[in-house]
Amino acid sequence: MNKASDDLKHEHEVIKLALQILKKMRDRIMEKTEYDAGATASLLEVFSVFADQCHHGKEEKMLFPAMEEAGILKENGPIAVMLAEHVKGREHIAQMRVAIDVDNKSIDTEKFVDAAKNYIELLIPHIEKENNVLFPMGDNVLSDSKQNELLEDFEKYEENVIGHGKHEEFHELLKKLKAEYI
Ligand SMILES: [Fe+2]
Ligand SMILES: [Fe+2]
Repeated sequence: MNKASDDLKHEHEVIKLALQILKKMRDRIMEKTEYDAGATASLLEVFSVFADQCHHGKEEKMLFPAMEEAGILKENGPIAVMLAEHVKGREHIAQMRVAIDVDNKSIDTEKFVDAAKNYIELLIPHIEKENNVLFPMGDNVLSDSKQNELLEDFEKYEENVIGHGKHEEFHELLKKLKAEYI
């Protein structure tokens, strides 16, 4: 049976690819070999819309509340830690965004490099904790019907909040950036 965590784990793989691209981008910017303002802005869009709004949105608005309802306490537990890390991640994305000026094709190198490093170092262990600790906890307590309900809600959320075809657009963009950077 398909579980809500399967969908989220699949998205984790996509986010990890985007983080690998960010790392390469950051290296090139740091070594001053290349700064592509358009590509950098597009990748930030993947992080703020796909990783944060869509993926973290599904976790915060649907999976975590379902886990709480099933008896997993939020306060002082792993859910609270995950939520705090989402907030931190948002700050790092905002810092990367203010470091780049797309119109003038300029960049505050130090600020961008620092924020990118912090974001990568936050998100990789965050994903591992969810895959290995939080999701198994949820799968233990969620009924089959709740899993189905979550999967349906995820689909509706993608359509209504992120927009039709947006996911495919991000996949295409990442494919292009992967060929360019990795
Ligand atoms: Fe998360
Ligand atoms: Fe996640």
